[in-house]
Amino acid sequence: METSIFAHRGASKLAPENTMAAFTLAQKMGADGIETDVQLTKDHVPILIHDETLHRTTDGTGYVKDYTYEQLTKLDAGKWFNEKYTGERLLSLEEFLKWISNTSLSLNIELKNNIIDYKDIEKEVLALIKHYGVAERTIISSFNPKSIKRFKRLSKEIECACLTSRRPKDLQSLIEETKANALHINYNALNRGLIKEAKRLHLPVRTYTINRPSRLMRSYKLEVDGIFTDVPHSAIEYRELYLH
Ligand code: G3P
Ligand code: MG
Repeated sequence: METSIFAHRGASKLAPENTMAAFTLAQKMGADGIETDVQLTKDHVPILIHDETLHRTTDGTGYVKDYTYEQLTKLDAGKWFNEKYTGERLLSLEEFLKWISNTSLSLNIELKNNIIDYKDIEKEVLALIKHYGVAERTIISSFNPKSIKRFKRLSKEIECACLTSRRPKDLQSLIEETKANALHINYNALNRGLIKEAKRLHLPVRTYTINRPSRLMRSYKLEVDGIFTDVPHSAIEYRELYLH
C-alpha cells in the first residue's frame, strides 16, 4: 500500500502556512493532498488559519472570531514568514475549494473547534464542500470528537477522522461513539499495537507531522495510510526510496 502524502498547511516549511503560495507549491511538488485548518470569522465565514488568534501568522492582533471576513482580507499573511511573500492573504474556505476543485488533489479540512467551539461550523463547511463537488476527496478532521459526531450526523458519506495527540484509551468506543472513519494521530503516539487495532477496526491511520527522513521512513514501514508533512518534496523522495 502506498502512503498518501498530505502537505500540512500546504508546503509550510517553504512558504507561509495556509496561503495560496503554500498550496500551489505543494501541488507543484506533487503532493497527493493538502491539509488545512478552518476557523470562523465574526460573520460566520469559514477561513483558513491555524491559530485562534492572528498575531503569529498575520500582521493583525486579537481573535479571528472578532473580525469580519472583509476585515481579515486586509491583513498580510505572508510577510511574517519572509519579505518575498508580502501580499499573501488569508483565504476563505470557499476560495480554497474553488481552487482545489480544479485540481486532482485530495483535501483534509481540519475543523479548529477544540478551543473555541464555533457554532455551526460543521454546517457551513459541509455546504461549501457540496457546492464545490469535492465530497469524495475530502476528509474532515477535528480534535473535538463532538464535532466529528455532529458532522457525521449531517453527512454519512464524507470521511471523518478523529484527531488525537495521544493514543486513545479505547479506540473502538471512540469510533463507535463518533462514527468516525479514520484516525489522525501524532507521530509520537503511534506504535505497532495501535496500527494493529486500527486494522482490526478497518480504520485508516494517518500521522502528523512527519518531516525528518527517519520518521518518514518509519511511517512508510509501518504502512500508515497517510502522513502530514511540511516538506512534501522530501516526503515524496523518501517514499520513492522506500518503494524501490
Ligand atoms: O491535521 C493534522 C495536524 O494539522 C493537526 O495539528 O496543530 O498542526 O493543526 P495542527
Ligand atoms: Mg491542522
